[in-house]
Amino acid sequence: MSHLFPNYNRLPFEIVEGRGSYVKDEHGQQYLDFTSGIGVVNLGYGHPVVQQALLKQADTLWHMPNLYNSQLQETVATQLVQQIPLSQDYAVYFCNSGAEANEAALKLARKATGRTQIISFQQSFHGRTFGAMTATGQEVIHEGFGPLVPGFTYLPYNDAAVLAAAFTDDTAAVILELVQGEGGVIPAEKKWVRAVADLCKENGTLLIIDEIQTGIGRTGTFYAFEQYGIEPDIFTLAKGLGNGMPVGAMVGKAALKTAFGPGSHGSTFGGNKLALAAASAVCQLIADEAIQRNVQARSEQLLTGLKDLPAVKDLRGKGLMIGLVLADADTLQQVIKQLREAQLLALKAGSRVLRLLPPLTITEDETAAGIAILRQVLTQDQFAARNV
Ligand SMILES: Cc1ncc(COP(=O)(O)O)c(C=O)c1O
Repeated sequence: MSHLFPNYNRLPFEIVEGRGSYVKDEHGQQYLDFTSGIGVVNLGYGHPVVQQALLKQADTLWHMPNLYNSQLQETVATQLVQQIPLSQDYAVYFCNSGAEANEAALKLARKATGRTQIISFQQSFHGRTFGAMTATGQEVIHEGFGPLVPGFTYLPYNDAAVLAAAFTDDTAAVILELVQGEGGVIPAEKKWVRAVADLCKENGTLLIIDEIQTGIGRTGTFYAFEQYGIEPDIFTLAKGLGNGMPVGAMVGKAALKTAFGPGSHGSTFGGNKLALAAASAVCQLIADEAIQRNVQARSEQLLTGLKDLPAVKDLRGKGLMIGLVLADADTLQQVIKQLREAQLLALKAGSRVLRLLPPLTITEDETAAGIAILRQVLTQDQFAARNV
C-alpha cells in the first residue's frame, strides 16, 4: 500500500534516467520527451554546464538563510533584469515555485497599491496555494477549498469588450499568462494584451504577467512579453529557471521596492544556493541567441510537420509551446497513451488539447522523429473519424 496521498494521477512506471531529449524508465524503455518535465527541463536532461554549476556549488555551500548578503542572488537577479528589453529598472525576489512567485506578486500588488481587487482570466492557471489558486480561473481547481481569497474577478480571455467595465478604483492588479498553458495552449492576442496594458496604466493598476510556463526561452524569446510590446509592472518565473532545480522568482519594477521592505515577505529556502547556481547557468545558456534560433526553427518544423492532420481541429502555440486541439477528452487520453506506446511523451492541456513542450535544445532529427510518431498516431482513421 502506498503511503502517498493520491493527489496525482500517476502512470504505472517510473522515469529513472534522462539525457538530452530522452528519458528511460525502470525497465530500460526509452522515450523521446516532448514534455520537458512539464516545461521545466528546458535545456534537456543532464545539461553539462548546469550539472557542473550544481556540483561546484554542492561542494561549497548548500544553504544559508536570507540573513546574509548573497552574491549568487545578486548575480541571478542581474542576469534576469539584463534580459528585460526596457529602460525601466527591476528588482527580484526569489522563492521555490511558481505558485510562490505568484503569491508574492499578488501580495506585492495589494501592498503597493493599497487596493484589493485582482482581475484574472477564465481557464488561467497560476498555482495551487490559496492566492494563486484563487487567481486561477478554473472552478475545478477551486472545488472543495472555499472560501477563496476575496476580491478576485474572472474575465473572458482575449475579449476586449468586457475589460474596461471591470476596472474600479480598487483594482490592484491584472494577472495573465501570454499563452495559457494548462488551460489549453491559448496564445493571447497582441491587440487585446495591449488594451489590457493601456487600461492598467489609465487606472493605476499593476500588470502582472505570469511567465512561469512561457518564460526562460520557451516561446522563442527570453520572456514572452518581449513579443507583445508591453511593460509588465511585475512578472513571475519558475519551471525552466532551474532546469529541474526548484526555484521561482518574482520580478517587479524597482519603484515597487518600498512596498516589500524588510520583514514584509520571505521564504526559508527562497534563493537557495544550489537552486541559484543552476539558475545562473540556465540564464547564461538561455540568453545565447543560438538557443532562441533553435526554438524558432524547431517551432516552424513542428507547425509545418503537424499541419493538416485529420484528427486535429486546431494547431496553435508559440515557440516550443504547441497545442493540438483534438475531438474530445477521450480521444486526448487515447492519443497520449498511443504516443507513449510509440515512445513519445506528451502532455494534456485543458480537456482536449495535446500539449507539446519539447526541450529548447531539441535537434532537427529528434523533432523529425517526434513528428513521425505524432503523424503515425494522429492519421489513424479512428481518431480522424471523431473529428467531424
Ligand atoms: C502559468 C503557470 N503559473 C503557475 C504555475 C504553478 O507553478 P508551480 O507548480 O511551480 O507552483 C504553473 C504550473 O504549471 C503555470 O503553468
